Amino acid sequence: MNETLIFMGPPGAGKGTQATKICENRQLKQLSTGDMLRDHVRRGTDLGVQAKQIMDAGKLVSDDVIIGMVRAELQQMADIRVLFDGFPRTTAQAQALDQLLQELHAPLYAVVLLEVDEEAVVQRLLKRAEIEGRSDDNEATIRKRLSVYNEQTSPLIGYYAGTGKIKKIDGMGTVQEVEQRIKEALA
Ligand code: AP5
Ligand code: MG
Repeated sequence: MNETLIFMGPPGAGKGTQATKICENRQLKQLSTGDMLRDHVRRGTDLGVQAKQIMDAGKLVSDDVIIGMVRAELQQMADIRVLFDGFPRTTAQAQALDQLLQELHAPLYAVVLLEVDEEAVVQRLLKRAEIEGRSDDNEATIRKRLSVYNEQTSPLIGYYAGTGKIKKIDGMGTVQEVEQRIKEALA
């Protein structure tokens, strides 16, 4: 049976961490547009070369590129059982996703919104910088990513509000505590 989930929240909210757990639990495929772009950067594709500059500046890659990437992934799936991690991020992306899901007869099950304290996520990402060295995890870029989230992505909370599918989750606390809250909200 088709099922789709969206994980939303500011940078460092724990989307990726929690998405992995929920995908295992519900047998979904994790589709992170950030991971897909970083894969292009690693492989040095044309898209990767262009995307790296934008990501390092903390800005958003163009809607057309992102929507095209997601469409290509979905169209090759037999069953649409997907958790979108960090997508959609703009109203145009959300509208395109609505259209795609309708074409593919894949209903949206829920939008999980991870709510966190901004200063706490800055600290999380600075800590990750020491461990993983992601090139956009420096303080200036982190703050830019937060302001881009507030300006361009947070309006999607209003976009989805009418669907009754938004689950607002307190993203502070341990990874296990947050995981438990998400599982309860999705039960
Ligand atoms: P993306 O890769 O999506 O990055 P992001 O949204 O900035 O978020 P992160 O991946 O940094 O954080 P997360 O919420 O996944 O948290 P995580 O679990 O990793 O996007 C990167 C860039 O790609 C964008 O800036 C943009 O340029 C481009 N892009 C991507 N998608 C796009 C789109 N749709 N449209 C346009 N452009 C797009 O956790 C963070 C850290 O905290 C980890 O170290 C983790 O171990 C730790 N942690 C997690 N949970 C906890 C906890 N409860 N307590 C303590 N530490 C925790
Ligand atoms: Mg992530």
